[in-house]
Amino acid sequence: MVAYDEFRESERSGWDARAGSYSDATARATLQSIPALLARANLFPGAKVLDAGCGPGYVAACADILGASSTGIDFSNNMITEARRRFPGTKFEVGDMEQMPLGDQSMDAVLSNIGLFHVTDPDRVMREAFRVLSPGGKFVFSQWLGPAESECYRMLFDVLRNHADMTLADPAPDAYVLSDRNLVSEKMESAGFAGISFEEVPNVLHTPGPSFFDFFMTFGVRVPLIVEKQAPETRKRIRDEIDERAGGFLADGLYRIPMPSLVVAAQRPSV
Ligand SMILES: C[S@@+](CC[C@H](N)C(=O)[O-])C[C@H]1O[C@@H](n2cnc3c(N)ncnc32)[C@H](O)[C@@H]1O
Repeated sequence: MVAYDEFRESERSGWDARAGSYSDATARATLQSIPALLARANLFPGAKVLDAGCGPGYVAACADILGASSTGIDFSNNMITEARRRFPGTKFEVGDMEQMPLGDQSMDAVLSNIGLFHVTDPDRVMREAFRVLSPGGKFVFSQWLGPAESECYRMLFDVLRNHADMTLADPAPDAYVLSDRNLVSEKMESAGFAGISFEEVPNVLHTPGPSFFDFFMTFGVRVPLIVEKQAPETRKRIRDEIDERAGGFLADGLYRIPMPSLVVAAQRPSV
């Protein structure tokens, strides 16, 4: 298996750099998946919840408002600092969701909002979620849908295909394997989960102009990692074409670009 060490380090430093601006960038789209995530978590008063890849802590904080006792983990130090600042009543720790710093069967729910999209080995996260869940516990995560089902990612990857030399980018795992419901079901079942269900959430990325490209470079990490490796003239061509295409989604100074997500829920069997 490819190690993806450079990719992992770039993800970590990319999120570290975005922690302070996240609430006005990535959160404009990720927060829209949280109600569906929580609706499938079957929380109860005192439920022990892990928010894996918590970023600035929104899922853990929302679960606590609903009566849970949550811990958020993220491998970015700056995200954990930001989460503690925003939500001082909730517990946050630096930690890796591919090696969860928790005992076996210690959690009632593991939640991850657009977290598995960014890890090097999502199968490992599924096995870890199974390990830390009590029998009957719920694992619920969300994932961006891929270019075939997402106008935002279709536009971005069409333009990258037209101009970018993808061999310049560090090797990275396929971000969209978890958008394939059959594949996700197989992976979740082989981790031990049962009762797998899906819900599509119609997230729409709302953001002011003028340049959608400039905004998107602050929004995500995966696409910038590809763009930043390109030659300056290639980057300019990518920027120009993305802004031209994004213009079709601009009205009254605001881009509204559909980027739906998939919420996946499953249970560790009771016995
Ligand atoms: C798109 S953000 C999602 C943040 C948050 N869950 C939300 O609802 O907006 C992805 C987060 O996953 C974190 N992350 C990526 N790989 C990780 C890993 N292996 N362990 C822990 N956190 C990870 C990143 O640092 C980043 O904060």
